[in-house]
Amino acid sequence: MTPGDPLNPDLSAFAQVVEPFRVMDILARALAAERDGRDIIHLEVGEPDFPTPPPVIAAGRAALAAGDTRYTPAHGTRALREALAADYRWRHDAEIDPERIVITAGASAAILLALAAGVNPGEEVLLPDPGYACNRQFVAARGAIPVGLPVQAEHGFQPTAESVAAVWGANTRAVLLGSPANPTGTCLSRERLAAIVEVVRERGGLVIMDEIYAQIVFDGSEPSAAAGFPDVVVINSFSKYFAMTGWRLGWMVVPESWVDPVRRLAQNLFVAPATMAQTAALEAFTPETEALLQTQVRELQRRRDVLLEALPGLGLKVQARPEGAFYIYADCTAHGPDSEALCARILDQAGVALTPGTDFSPSRGREYLRIAYTQSEARLCEAVERLRAAL
Ligand SMILES: Cc1ncc(COP(=O)(O)O)c(C=O)c1O
Repeated sequence: MTPGDPLNPDLSAFAQVVEPFRVMDILARALAAERDGRDIIHLEVGEPDFPTPPPVIAAGRAALAAGDTRYTPAHGTRALREALAADYRWRHDAEIDPERIVITAGASAAILLALAAGVNPGEEVLLPDPGYACNRQFVAARGAIPVGLPVQAEHGFQPTAESVAAVWGANTRAVLLGSPANPTGTCLSRERLAAIVEVVRERGGLVIMDEIYAQIVFDGSEPSAAAGFPDVVVINSFSKYFAMTGWRLGWMVVPESWVDPVRRLAQNLFVAPATMAQTAALEAFTPETEALLQTQVRELQRRRDVLLEALPGLGLKVQARPEGAFYIYADCTAHGPDSEALCARILDQAGVALTPGTDFSPSRGREYLRIAYTQSEARLCEAVERLRAAL
């Protein structure tokens, strides 16, 4: 199927060919099995199992009670942008002008805005393969062309300057990176990022860096790309570290020359991000909330370590050590050539919901599956036992 196939003339070419986010299909099947009375261990959806921090919820309630329900400026409240700038200062030692921060409806809206601001229809955007599934669709929605950027396990499933240079063509406009990455949990070192930025600058292109998992790192963190790369567009969100997926709140740090155009785009495309969510998010930056969130990061690290220990014994090979986020991307070819069939069988026989790699890698997704360790350690151990029996 290619765009333009006359499947349904009422729909745009894009709508006709847009792929499903397969993880949502798996979730629907898992929920159906639960309705039939089965106990399913959910390791499919990329959503923290931790609740939103209680002070944030309390502030959200108070915001609603106070009638905090009207539009804010399109780029977000000054208070939240200042809170984020302060967070960059202490977390990353980076001085970011709050004027360069744009609050958005999650990282999803931030990526759409970044592409609308920086990429023309018909231009190519390089996307690491494997990478976050929706990026291909964001690029296509812009009328631009997603181009897979092959990455190797021995390079931590992250691109190198050489690989970017090799794929960059006359019509390439941008590369969209992620660190830690979804689905691999691997990080892009500062050194490698600098080399990639150099290659892209030489070609007059744009680097967009998705740092949605940047606060969830286990083995020593790198500073944000916002520190030291003022021409890189940095994406982040309250969804993951702050466990606020449903509040639909994210942000981006844009180059100075982008401030006005991005505000105009945001005014037209979204009017404003959710008001009560912005007020509530101010409570995300207190020392108490930070202490709670750091406890959760350590809990995620323990879960990762439990799985890294168990997976080789299940014939699931982890080829690059995940350093953050809450994902493990494992080679499952010991169990057959097709991860979609394998994940369906595992859901069926073991009651464990996993995501096939085909969501993340058009080229080699059938060889991999993704485990989201968004369940307690006890449930993960139970999942391991069930997998052992089924595999
Ligand atoms: C890498 C990456 N970017 C962006 C998003 C979208 O996040 P948000 O909920 O902030 O829109 C996700 C969600 O899973 C993600 O994994």
